[in-house]
Amino acid sequence: MSAQYDQIGEKVADWDVLPVRSEYIEGHTFFKALGSVEERNVLDLACGDGLYTRQLKARGANRVVGVDISEEMIGGARRYEEAQRLGIEYHVSDVADMAPLGVFDCVTAVYLLHYANSPEHLLRMCRNIHAHVKPGGRFVTYSFNPGFSAKGPNSTRYGITMLDFPESPREGQAISAELHTKTPFTIHFSYWSRATYEQALREAGFRQLTWMSPECSPEGIARYGRAFWQDYLDNPHAVALRCER
Ligand SMILES: C[S@@+](CC[C@H](N)C(=O)[O-])C[C@H]1O[C@@H](n2cnc3c(N)ncnc32)[C@H](O)[C@@H]1O
Repeated sequence: MSAQYDQIGEKVADWDVLPVRSEYIEGHTFFKALGSVEERNVLDLACGDGLYTRQLKARGANRVVGVDISEEMIGGARRYEEAQRLGIEYHVSDVADMAPLGVFDCVTAVYLLHYANSPEHLLRMCRNIHAHVKPGGRFVTYSFNPGFSAKGPNSTRYGITMLDFPESPREGQAISAELHTKTPFTIHFSYWSRATYEQALREAGFRQLTWMSPECSPEGIARYGRAFWQDYLDNPHAVALRCER
């Protein structure tokens, strides 16, 4: 399922410019959930071409490491690094099988956990994530919203359409979403409920789990107005989750 990004490649970068993905919603909510990374060591999982990995460095993180299953996406991240050296290390691996890379103050993952293809795969990911977080550290993830409702507004005008989303999704059900970029593309992942994520994270050893709904930044409201965002905020396609070790 995750090799799909070898085909998607640079099309992902077109998606980066959509308002919902930028500092107006996604980046704003993710970095708020994460807190300061200044002088911290951070491992960014499912880093793709390094959009957030570079931002972590720009926010003053110390050692920054990015991991992604897709050679193609890591190739893109390394090209950015060659063009402007920030000192970020990148590795190709499935998070579930990742070799030890050290322990980090924070581990992050923007759009990872819903790519788990079974509860066992999800648990292996969570165990490996936990092993990379130092005691007292945190794992912050931003991924598909298990509470997304087929009856609520779809997020098409924000750049993403959930395709044939079921009214009562089953655990592990295949879900597809179309991303409306210059060259549109479709992604495929699995539906997991909050309870399934929480069970895997707790079994892996995380203590306190805090779900956080997306919020719009003051800049997003100033640029588009509060009303523009309401449908999205009423039925967001993604949510943040902070896990303390
Ligand atoms: C939507 S992209 C997000 C990339 C980046 N976090 C961002 O927000 O720009 C999802 C990424 O997850 C990666 N991925 C999916 N399953 C993975 C796994 N099991 N281990 C590591 N990376 C995975 C994909 O290759 C893809 O690059």
